[in-house]
Amino acid sequence: MNVIRRRGWEIPERELTPEHLFFNRRSFLAGSASALAVAPAAALAQRVTDAADLPDPSAGLYPAKRNEKYVLDRPITDEKINGSYNNFYEFNSTKNVAAQAQALPIRPWMVKIDGMVEKPIEIGIDELMRKMTLEERTYRHRCVEAWSMAIAWSGFPVAKLVEFAKPLSSAKYLRMETFNNPKVAPGLKQSWYPWPYIEGLSMAEATNDLAFLATGAYGHPMAKQHGAPLRLAVPWKYGFKSIKSIVRFSFVEERPKGMWEALQASEYGFWANVNPEVPHPRWSQASEEIIGTGERKPTLKFNGYGEFVADIYKGMESGERLWA
Ligand code: MTE
Repeated sequence: MNVIRRRGWEIPERELTPEHLFFNRRSFLAGSASALAVAPAAALAQRVTDAADLPDPSAGLYPAKRNEKYVLDRPITDEKINGSYNNFYEFNSTKNVAAQAQALPIRPWMVKIDGMVEKPIEIGIDELMRKMTLEERTYRHRCVEAWSMAIAWSGFPVAKLVEFAKPLSSAKYLRMETFNNPKVAPGLKQSWYPWPYIEGLSMAEATNDLAFLATGAYGHPMAKQHGAPLRLAVPWKYGFKSIKSIVRFSFVEERPKGMWEALQASEYGFWANVNPEVPHPRWSQASEEIIGTGERKPTLKFNGYGEFVADIYKGMESGERLWA
């Protein structure tokens, strides 16, 4: 038998140890001289490192097999362009956040699932990913600011997370929350924003197949500026609904108030479905600039995804404000 002997520091501990313990131990070894005395052989063999510069433990899961159900009407946006034109207000309020976003430590990354569920849990992102089957989907993304991109996300449907979470039948909404650590993300010190970033979906939206939780993009783990290690992609809604770097999913009865809604309810509503006929109070939503080409295209109702999602809103048009 051909046995490949691993060197000491290559032992895949994360297969043996729960994720938060594994990463905490690595940080401990990195920061503590006494660790050398406790376990000299292991410590000497081990490169003294910080958890932040470990290779991404999920890298081997990409590229995921593409799901051909969702097709694009335009080319995928160049990765470099997409990765240098971002909204991530936790870092700053310009499009130029990529460099600052690299300060976000994405391991360990614990995700809480709580609220109206059979049993609340906290699970590491790598363990959660192991419970899911990753697939790739190409989606359009339409920002409320009237620009758009096209991306190849990798991840799993929100419906699979819901299935895993086992919510009670009385849960009506899924509330999602972004990390809130001002030490790594200076925008979080700007107290005029109602941090943390919150977004929500109704249960009918969350369990629609189009609602997707992305862990990767462009065939590899997602760049931090896109919201690593876990972000929402709901392409029939304006981009602000696609919450980044999620740390908590709560199943609730009351409709969650998103960060933008809390800041300016007259401009950013809960449903925020794309509709070219309903202007933003300060600008038209009739067309969009395709980032990367400069071309303008007419915007489509539900961003072109009406065949998959319009049914969710049947009968709601009269009483509800379904558009941003
Ligand atoms: N999520 C968090 N936590 N913080 C943000 O500032 N911006 C939103 C959304 N999710 C945002 C967020 C907006 S307005 C858009 S258009 C998209 O992220 C942008 O995603 P991208 O940078 O990957 O294109």
